[in-house]
Amino acid sequence: MSTLQTDTPLSLHHLHVTSEAPQALATFYADLFDLRLVPYAGDAIALGGGSRAIVIHEGRSGELAAAAYAAGDESALARLTARLGDTAIPAGPEAMIFFKRGAIAVEDPQGRRLILGVPRETRSDDPLPARLQHTVFQTTELENVLDFYVHRLGFVVSDEVVDDEGRLTTCFLRSDDEHHSLAFFRGSQNAWDHHCYETSSWNDIRDWGDRFARVRRSIFFGPGRHGPGNNLFFMVTDPDGNRLELSAELQKVKADQQPGLWPHEEYTLNSWGRGWIRT
Ligand SMILES: [Fe+2]
Repeated sequence: MSTLQTDTPLSLHHLHVTSEAPQALATFYADLFDLRLVPYAGDAIALGGGSRAIVIHEGRSGELAAAAYAAGDESALARLTARLGDTAIPAGPEAMIFFKRGAIAVEDPQGRRLILGVPRETRSDDPLPARLQHTVFQTTELENVLDFYVHRLGFVVSDEVVDDEGRLTTCFLRSDDEHHSLAFFRGSQNAWDHHCYETSSWNDIRDWGDRFARVRRSIFFGPGRHGPGNNLFFMVTDPDGNRLELSAELQKVKADQQPGLWPHEEYTLNSWGRGWIRT
């Protein structure tokens, strides 16, 4: 079957976030993530460097305005654009900060926005490895949203979590060989849950822990190992309260792998112990 993974792999490339205090948030990401100001003709603050990038717009704190996924090259983006038909809309000028001309956007049934494009520059190594890798949302309409991402866009289900009644509570979606680049939790609200940076080893997790410790940002979840994805992780928050995750050893998944099924319990979210159950 034709999917993003088999035909036109996508990887998370940068985020567009909104903040009531954009400069303070920019200072946090510039300092902690070794990012530099990227000049462009617009009002938002664009920061990039190595394998991570973020655009911070003035607006309500705690919201993700768009998640930007990179296609392999122009020809892959053209094939994807043709396949999406009228689901794809022009991405707008701010997509061109990090992407070449021709980027497109899609909006899911609840208004979340994805930008799909080809990076202007190839990612390079980070001083301390942590590649922007996935983002996650809470949704009140899990089935409806998943139908869009799987059947309309071509994401593939890697793992599902179900409760005692067999009701789906979480779904992990991949767009390339990595276990998930996007995931959704069933929740009582529609909210941005977290974003994640993939490091190269457990030692990087240690070094990131030390880096956050120096600025007194304490870990609120982890360290531990997730069941789905099998990745080591911990989570902290940025000054706006946005949750961010540092990860290592995220599983690779073959294109023909059947989705896994996990029980909705703490040990699924953290096989080392305490989980953070969304409600
Ligand atoms: Fe995550």
